[in-house]
Amino acid sequence: MTDIVILAAGKGTRMRSKLPKVLHKLAGKAFLQHVVDTSSQLSAEKIHIVVGHGAKEVQDSITGSNIRYVEQTEQLGTGHAVAQALEMLPDNRPVLILYGDVPLIQSSTLTALVGQVSERSMALLTFTLQDPTGYGRIVRNAENAITSIVEQKDANPEQLQINEINTGVMCVLGSHLKSWLPKLSNDNAQGEYYLTDLIEMAAQAGVDIKAEQPASELEITGVNNRLQQAELERAYQHQNAETLMEAGLSILDPKRFDLRGDLRHGEDCEIDINCIIEGKVEIGSNVSIGPNCLIKNSVIEDGVSIHANSIIEEAHIGSECNIGPFARLRPGTKLEHSARVGNFVETKKAHIGVGSKVNHLSYIGDAVVGNNVNIGAGTITCNYDGVNKSITQIGDESFIGSNSALVAPVSLSASTTVAAGSVVTSNSDEGQLVVARSKQRNINGWRRPVKKK
Ligand code: UD1
Ligand code: CA
Repeated sequence: MTDIVILAAGKGTRMRSKLPKVLHKLAGKAFLQHVVDTSSQLSAEKIHIVVGHGAKEVQDSITGSNIRYVEQTEQLGTGHAVAQALEMLPDNRPVLILYGDVPLIQSSTLTALVGQVSERSMALLTFTLQDPTGYGRIVRNAENAITSIVEQKDANPEQLQINEINTGVMCVLGSHLKSWLPKLSNDNAQGEYYLTDLIEMAAQAGVDIKAEQPASELEITGVNNRLQQAELERAYQHQNAETLMEAGLSILDPKRFDLRGDLRHGEDCEIDINCIIEGKVEIGSNVSIGPNCLIKNSVIEDGVSIHANSIIEEAHIGSECNIGPFARLRPGTKLEHSARVGNFVETKKAHIGVGSKVNHLSYIGDAVVGNNVNIGAGTITCNYDGVNKSITQIGDESFIGSNSALVAPVSLSASTTVAAGSVVTSNSDEGQLVVARSKQRNINGWRRPVKKK
């Protein structure tokens, strides 16, 4: 068990935004929420989030358990920030220090760090960079033991040559923090209380400073402006795509793929370019998803084809269904095995039975459609009277002629045929033909108007 402190008080001036920096998003999720979610994987005893700029907004947007907020009203440095949580920190457990604007830190890296902490040792996450400019440098002695961290602005020319940098992430026993933090001074180039000055205190107290490295640089990359945000987003998406492709998913162009949540998939699925997968999405085997599709919080069973430019949200698609191009399946849509929803069709809270087809230009909302129903082009379920929503029921084997309006509440029994262009307002019995349109008249001797002089 460990306690975690996440620093999230900074304004993020370079984002040039009213939104606090840590609420800006990566893969559809706030930076800080990434860090909180990763922290939760460590089964942390308590997560202390140090907030300052936009404190209320941050508290209102972040979700998770065992979170406690502590306010830092003035940003006087990273050491000062951690000190705000000091009272509530345990003595005998390790305390892990993380950053709300470094979203991709991994739990495996953190577990390794926590494992290094004892009465006699603390742990520091370091990394070696070709260009270490801007970072604190890790200073080691002749025995290669870490003795201090020196900030870029306080470093001498020799120290500036050091390529091993401080990522900021560290893990220290609570009682050590409590004895060292109050001794920090702000007598340095930036006039700040540097958390990094702890390292020299630890070394002088004979506490071993163990360095760990992350598996990838992405884990320690912080975001300060929108360009860095976009770059990290692409790098992260590429990593996601790689993981999925290694697991057998075919992504036609990993550079044009975005996962903003979790995707589970079976075998031999293919995703064409420019698709966005959001929330929790589960696809079976042999599913193909055409270009420019957005799929959110949905389950898609085996053998489904989704054609270009379709949008599917909170829907359940049965096996062998065929969707789009240009279909919009809104929340509460459930398609049974081998149903078909074609172009320019919108569905909402619609249950569409086995083998039924809505091929073109229709709106099917608040509807229960049986098996093997054919719904003609331009059919509209009139589900809303301006105040209430009502249900349309269509029995098995029915045939709805094109351009019909089904005025809900209305229930058509099995094998009903509706004549094209009908406005259906009353229920039908099994096998009936429903004709609800004015009768055609053909007028003889009709003279077309002539142009007036
Ligand atoms: C810090 C480290 C540096 C390291 C670098 C890695 C210190 C003194 N330096 O420098 O060694 O290489 O991170 O990115 O720790 N924050 C607060 N309250 C404060 C000050 C900061 O919450 O009073 C938060 C900021 O919002 C930010 C994080 O702490 O998310 C880091 O602060 P920042 O001032 O950016 O530190 P660096 O100068 O980057
Ligand atoms: Ca920084």
